[in-house]
Amino acid sequence: MITKFLNFFADPYRLHYKSRELIKKYQLQNYEQRLAIGAVERPHYGYCVYHSAKLAKRLGYERISVIEFGVAGGNGLVNLEYHVEEVSKIWGIEIEIYGFDTGEGLPKPVDYRDLPYYWQDSFFKMDISKLQPRLKKAQLVLGNITKTAKDFFEVYKPAPIAAIMYDLDYYSSTVAALEMFDADDTFFLPRIFCYFDDIIGSEMEAYNDYIGVRLAINEFNQNNQMKKLGKAYHLLTRKLPETWYNQIYIYHNFSHSKYNEFIGPQNQQIVLEE
Ligand SMILES: C[S@@+](CC[C@H](N)C(=O)[O-])C[C@H]1O[C@@H](n2cnc3c(N)ncnc32)[C@H](O)[C@@H]1O
Repeated sequence: MITKFLNFFADPYRLHYKSRELIKKYQLQNYEQRLAIGAVERPHYGYCVYHSAKLAKRLGYERISVIEFGVAGGNGLVNLEYHVEEVSKIWGIEIEIYGFDTGEGLPKPVDYRDLPYYWQDSFFKMDISKLQPRLKKAQLVLGNITKTAKDFFEVYKPAPIAAIMYDLDYYSSTVAALEMFDADDTFFLPRIFCYFDDIIGSEMEAYNDYIGVRLAINEFNQNNQMKKLGKAYHLLTRKLPETWYNQIYIYHNFSHSKYNEFIGPQNQQIVLEE
């Protein structure tokens, strides 16, 4: 009993995490307040949706899209609908949702870069008849992303993409998803909030910069002069650490027609102190 008591206070974050759990469980504050302290399911999804909608509003967009690459059973997509519903009320913006998946689980790994030592084909099959009726507005884009990515814009005519959750597990699939940034700039915001699920895992995945999703990100940055995926340093320097802070990247398209549009506070001045 005494050890339990001492352990509780030995961990500097324990009290914070415990009180956050209670706020989340009993919904003690409004959505915006709970999101700000991570007292929601999948705070990383909420974070990307919230801040992308805020940016979109500042840039004058009336409608945006958010994407989940890799849906599996659909828990992530259902959660995304929850955040979208809350966030669209806060910022007064229409948000479309798209979920990409084979529907049949993972395809065969292409080579060692897809981590066949950890992933196998047919993992994470979708039960479409179970998921479809649960979805309120999200649209499923079914098929291998190497194909669906190519005609997505023509078929769905999505509102500009503002936030993307990447959860495709494989290097090869993530490369195909990142190639979608080659489409016309009008389909994207100049900066996009991205979450990458498969860049932090256990000792068994042992992700590194030369395989998997980390390799796909690094190659994207090497191959593109004017489009870059950068870490969210503003999160990495927050006082209370969260694993997912390391999984947020912001996509920058320097040549986007709206990239330089001013979004900061007006008329900033610093007067000399007496
Ligand atoms: C880990 S699961 C996604 C889990 C889901 N995001 C969640 O949070 O519940 C990975 C999914 O990526 C999908 N996937 C991987 N490679 C794909 C590809 N080339 N085309 C389409 N879907 C792919 C698989 O079908 C699988 O369902």
